[in-house]
Amino acid sequence: MNSRPILLTHASQLLTLRGEHSPRRGTQMRELGIINDGALLMNEGKIVAVESTDEVAHHELAAQAEEIDCRGKVVLPGFVDSHTHPAFTNPRLIDFEKRISGASYEEIAEAGGGIRSSIRGVREASIEQLADHVLNALREIAAYGTTTVEAKSGYGLNFESEMKSLQAIRRAAEQWPGTVISTLLGAHVVPPEYRSDPEAYVAIVSEQMIPFVAEQKLASYVDVFCERGAFTPEQSARILRTAVEHGLKTRAHVCQLTSVDLGPLLEFHPASFDHMDYVSDADVALLAESNTIATLLPAANYFLGLDRFPPARKLIDGGAAVALATDYNPGTSPTSSMPFVLSAACTHMKMLPAEAITAATINGAWALELQQRKGSLEPGKDADVAVFAAEDYRELAYWFGVNRCEHVFLGGIEIRR
Ligand code: NIG
Ligand code: FE
Repeated sequence: MNSRPILLTHASQLLTLRGEHSPRRGTQMRELGIINDGALLMNEGKIVAVESTDEVAHHELAAQAEEIDCRGKVVLPGFVDSHTHPAFTNPRLIDFEKRISGASYEEIAEAGGGIRSSIRGVREASIEQLADHVLNALREIAAYGTTTVEAKSGYGLNFESEMKSLQAIRRAAEQWPGTVISTLLGAHVVPPEYRSDPEAYVAIVSEQMIPFVAEQKLASYVDVFCERGAFTPEQSARILRTAVEHGLKTRAHVCQLTSVDLGPLLEFHPASFDHMDYVSDADVALLAESNTIATLLPAANYFLGLDRFPPARKLIDGGAAVALATDYNPGTSPTSSMPFVLSAACTHMKMLPAEAITAATINGAWALELQQRKGSLEPGKDADVAVFAAEDYRELAYWFGVNRCEHVFLGGIEIRR
């Protein structure tokens, strides 16, 4: 912990994202709560004051603080990356080349590539090796201004290796000053040894993995890949129901490749439905009435070379609360950069830069049910703050393929790039 308070002053724009006690929808997503010539005072891991630079001078802690001049910079809440898969060991370069030569994600998966080709590396890795990989990923993610990360298991796909993945995530999280929320994704795909009996694998997830994870507090959430070639809606419902029965919270990968009826899954009050490329109009209306967030992952569409992107306009204009995340993973989205995600969201999904920033901060916090602590710059919240070299917030989504993040504070601790 920094021993002295830290005072950021003269930010050309300080984006507070303050206000609202529900996830942001519709035109609320354009409200960033900007303070010009803004200042932020943090102490002992918490935000103490968020004001203009003139006003903050009166604060009693300001005089003893270490001051960082933020002229020509935008200060905003650290990004909340609410969807990542960091527990893997190797990049999937064969899949990458196959796709370049014309094969689709599903064709590669059916031929034994895809998620299944990441299993061996995880099963053979020691917990230390896996934890090292996760920690490197967390550090890389933070360098782009992200301070909270949701991290899934999902490449071990047997009891032992899924638990090892969650333990590795926990071990990495202990060595990183940001906040990590863990998710069991034992139901990512059916592993090859259960291909002829998928129900037996669903039983292992439900009867062995979920009870153990709940008892050992190895994860907060249970996720499932509800998709053609992965798990059916009925299998997904069984898994999410079991999670709720064990006191775990839920989220789900849905509508990435095909449409699925979301009503039955909403029964489990998922914090978020992720991907949503093929969401129906009827389900957008359902989401407008619920606090389940629609988390869009456009970096995956970019990396798969797809023409089609998640329908952000339909969702936002229809009243659903939208978040953005990287989907950091070796198969569809090998990127740690939330600013790249903002760029893809604006360019390919026609989100306004302000909507993209809201989606990547306060709505991301809602997607992890951390809105009380994260996602906005308000006194009492965690001192999770990013500083970008930009005069105007729109530049965060405008420059791409470069990293303009100059400072990032995770619970008040600055990590140096
Ligand atoms: O979110 N859709 C399922 N899971 C990941 C892909 C994982 C992989 O291909 O390794 C995703 O895109
Ligand atoms: Fe994913």
